[in-house]
Amino acid sequence: MALTAYNGVPIPSFMYGTAWKKEATSSLVQSAVESGFEAIDTANQLIHYEEARVGDALQALGEKGIPREKLFLQTKFTPVNGQDHRTPYNASADLATQVRQSFDSSLSHLHTECLDSYVLHGPYSRRGLGREDREVWAAMEGLYESGRTKMIGISNVVPDQLVQLCEQAAVMPMVVQNRCYAALGWDQEVREICRAHGIVYQGFSLLTANREFLVDPEIRTIAARLGTGPAQVLSRFAMMIGILPLTGTTSLQHMKEDLAAEQLELSKQEIRRIETIAL
Ligand SMILES: NC(=O)c1ccc[n+]([C@@H]2O[C@H](COP(=O)([O-])OP(=O)(O)OC[C@H]3O[C@@H](n4cnc5c(N)ncnc54)[C@H](OP(=O)(O)O)[C@@H]3O)[C@@H](O)[C@H]2O)c1
Repeated sequence: MALTAYNGVPIPSFMYGTAWKKEATSSLVQSAVESGFEAIDTANQLIHYEEARVGDALQALGEKGIPREKLFLQTKFTPVNGQDHRTPYNASADLATQVRQSFDSSLSHLHTECLDSYVLHGPYSRRGLGREDREVWAAMEGLYESGRTKMIGISNVVPDQLVQLCEQAAVMPMVVQNRCYAALGWDQEVREICRAHGIVYQGFSLLTANREFLVDPEIRTIAARLGTGPAQVLSRFAMMIGILPLTGTTSLQHMKEDLAAEQLELSKQEIRRIETIAL
């Protein structure tokens, strides 16, 4: 099943995240795709991601008969404050140039001419949006309008920033990618803004940001009823309330179990209980 953003572009309903995989990135991406994942998330940010190794995996998959066109590729522009000395662009250039250089370098790492989704890793400002955010967003709009990416998005946003972006942008984001905390009603406020605008909400660190729920007796009871584990209950719950989950698993077994979660059916009461479990 796919989720569709307001511009009509579909995204597979589960995404494989490549952060912190280091030299294992290429083999894990290949395993994820061979297990059934069709969407890959990365970033042009060497502190946390190995985008070029994702590209190696894509080449290897191509040789095994799985072409790039079968996959949904998402990467990010990471502002200089999220980079170390290996910044993939000239950090003294103007911001529009930084975005273009980072984008071109991503295309080269990933051996592709076009992305499915290009995401601003995070606003420059903590609250509201500032001059830098507007300049970077305008450069991303230019990439979208040129057809070199099918979607643009933003990550690590708080509600007021997303509202402001939707009001001021010439092109609204098609995706939002946020850390999803149960204690915030699974980012309820941001999700509602997304729903109102036809933006696809991607939730990351569903497990690592909510570890206590992996041992929660109520989640365990639901998992036992469904004959699965708490991690799969959380992934399926996320999908059933409209979140596109990312998984960062390094285990082949977990990849298969996570993909199987799409077949699970939680009751309305179970969904309601998990939605409010930390409120
Ligand atoms: N935009 C941003 O700023 C940002 C920030 C962070 C992450 N992300 C994206 O989100 C992706 C996922 O983040 P994450 O790694 O924190 O996600 P995560 O899937 O919540 O956490 C990964 C952890 O959960 C465990 N796990 C995964 N599936 C499991 C299962 N079925 N059963 C038991 N344990 C399971 C993994 O262990 P095993 O390896 O043993 O399975 C690993 O310890 C990243 O790779 C990245 O693409 C984006």
